[in-house]
Amino acid sequence: MIRVDGTHLRTVLSQWPSGVAVVTTVANEPAGPRPHGMTASSFSSVSLDPPLVSVCLGNHLPTRGLIAARGAFAVSFLGKDQAEVGRRFAGQHPAGTDRFAGLSWLTGPTGCPVLADATGWLECTVEHAYPGGDHTIFVGRVLDAGIPRVTAPLLFHSRSWGQLADPLPGEIVLTLADPPLLQVYAPGEAAAAAAAAAGRTVYVADAFHPDREADVLATLDALAAVPGVRIGCAEETPASPLQVRRVLQDAVVRVRPHELRVRLHGHHRLGLVNALVAMKSGVSRFDAARDAGGGLLAAADLAHLARQLGVACVETPDAENPELESRTESGRR
Ligand SMILES: Cc1cc2nc3c(=O)[nH]c(=O)nc-3n(C[C@H](O)[C@H](O)[C@H](O)COP(=O)(O)O)c2cc1C
Repeated sequence: MIRVDGTHLRTVLSQWPSGVAVVTTVANEPAGPRPHGMTASSFSSVSLDPPLVSVCLGNHLPTRGLIAARGAFAVSFLGKDQAEVGRRFAGQHPAGTDRFAGLSWLTGPTGCPVLADATGWLECTVEHAYPGGDHTIFVGRVLDAGIPRVTAPLLFHSRSWGQLADPLPGEIVLTLADPPLLQVYAPGEAAAAAAAAAGRTVYVADAFHPDREADVLATLDALAAVPGVRIGCAEETPASPLQVRRVLQDAVVRVRPHELRVRLHGHHRLGLVNALVAMKSGVSRFDAARDAGGGLLAAADLAHLARQLGVACVETPDAENPELESRTESGRR
């Protein structure tokens, strides 16, 4: 029988994105009932009629024993601004930290606490407790449910907290001068270009052409494999915002820890939309023209956009030219 290595399995499973819930119950202690809870992403809906949900909890966890003893649990879904709550209920704060400190919660028919700022909650009695390897699969019958707050959910993916809509960067950097362009078109050209770059940015040419997506990503992969290289994406074929999104959403992640620099055009009137999409995709470095009217997006327009978005904006005359180190700032929050 093939045996999957546990570390490898955890890494593969980390690629599965999930929402984040806090599963709570009540510990009956000599001093009186005490609320207890833990972060769980194994929540799942099971059945509408009867109303059933499930959570899988590690057999060694105190929460598992407390739920088995109480015969009841509650689930609170966390919102996008509650990563801190998620961390705390995952035991990532110093031992002894009161996980409920500073939080408001309510109790319903089971007495299990539900978070008042949750995006949704469910109160359940334990209907079944199935063995699931080193976890227990609790199936709960839902007695009551509510939506205290409508906001985007907190997500967990690849061992980090996230949101559905990518946040804007805190700051963007505009490079004002038109540096000499070093462009590559295909993955095979990447290594030689990176070697010749000598500290300058190597741009993937025509990066937003709809037919070039696979090639562009492969070229970025090849560039990212070269240590110390600076990587950019240059627009040639006028790009639609959706195409910019498709390429950059993947590109930004694939070149990490390198930062991706982007050259966008302004002449097709979609330049600022594309810049916004690029920012939302995690880009914080842009090439910009000193004056409007050329092909490249103008620095003043990008700075204006940044101001409108509350994003700080730093302008560098030419980041690739060591003689021009002076930096000016505009649009700082
Ligand atoms: C995002 C996230 C999701 C988690 N999901 C689960 C889960 O579904 N089941 C589980 O047993 N542990 C899960 N954990 C780990 C528990 O939250 C952690 O072990 C916690 O300390 C258990 O609390 P307890 O020791 O008080 O029982 C998760 C942790 C994080 C950060």
